[in-house]
Amino acid sequence: MSTTATAATFDPAEFRKALGTFATGVTIITACAPDGTLVGLTANSFNSVSLNPPLVLWSLATNSLSLEAFRGAEYWAVHVLSADQEELSGRFARRGEDKFAGLDLDEGPGGTPLLKNCAARFVCRTASQYEGGDHLIFIGEVLSFDRDESAPLVFHGGRYAHATRRDPADSKPRSAHLAGSFGEDFLGYLLGRSHFRFFAQIRPHLADAGLSDEEFYVLSSLTLKPTLSESDLSIGLNGVLDDRSQQAVQSLVGRGLARRSPEPSGADEGAAYELTESGRQCALRLIAAAKAVESQVLERLGYNDAQVLKSLLNRLLAVIDPEGKTLWDSASGPVSEPT
Ligand SMILES: Cc1cc2nc3c(=O)[nH]c(=O)nc-3n(C[C@H](O)[C@H](O)[C@H](O)COP(=O)(O)O)c2cc1C
Repeated sequence: MSTTATAATFDPAEFRKALGTFATGVTIITACAPDGTLVGLTANSFNSVSLNPPLVLWSLATNSLSLEAFRGAEYWAVHVLSADQEELSGRFARRGEDKFAGLDLDEGPGGTPLLKNCAARFVCRTASQYEGGDHLIFIGEVLSFDRDESAPLVFHGGRYAHATRRDPADSKPRSAHLAGSFGEDFLGYLLGRSHFRFFAQIRPHLADAGLSDEEFYVLSSLTLKPTLSESDLSIGLNGVLDDRSQQAVQSLVGRGLARRSPEPSGADEGAAYELTESGRQCALRLIAAAKAVESQVLERLGYNDAQVLKSLLNRLLAVIDPEGKTLWDSASGPVSEPT
């Protein structure tokens, strides 16, 4: 253990951090106050208590603006948020605004507002309330519930997180003689094979347009800004392409898909290039085809795991390419998508 503390000495911030090691889901609890006001807040203190009778609990800070409303409400509803509801969680964690404005609601008993598209919902009747230090603990009898298959939003260490299924292969013991050898577990193999198989699905579209991978990279980078200098291009393609980008630019120019811009680029930035109209059409068609391939792959992976994968790849890039700049950081005036 890196930190030990006793009740007499411990620091509240450290106590919070220690509690935050317990990963939870995220819920929004709603009720209709006796005067008809709708109240709701984000809460991760939710937990199950009993299966028979069906009971759940959560606790509310005694300084909550909704304290009196929940104290007096006979019914309340717990909404377990799905992975794509982080924004809704943020909205219900802010005090003093109309949290329900513009939301499409169902109505539960006693006018309880019910949010839509959650991972699960439990409609409850208050069974007991207990004081618990600076919180009031509510125990509710579950009257009804529904759920869908969406992945849950997770809260851990004071931040939102992703939950993803573990691959059964992750827990398989690896034989000692394989531990030091090149194999299926090697990151380079997994990344390389993923890249190769993914691009194998895009390449037929490039072949139809008579373009190489390099030419496609340059062509698609040129959609990010009206003109790109040679130095912009090398930022954009840094880590994706080596000095083959110059050859690819010249080939695009030779085929009438790009041209040297009449606008001079800044000092030391080299020549500037822009797409011709046919280059723009070609780029948009190929990007749309590449995005369609991406959608099919990500749909099979599922929304949540797709988010997890992208988040981890971004973190990997931050580790192995910490100085890496991208054109996205400064891109302005991208070429619009086809309608
Ligand atoms: C992930 C997360 C979990 C939270 N859990 C609780 C909780 O269990 N109980 C609580 O009283 N507040 C909790 N809060 C804080 C409330 O959502 C926040 O204080 C809210 O503004 C209270 O609104 P109100 O004062 O309008 O009732 C949590 C906030 C977040 C972001």
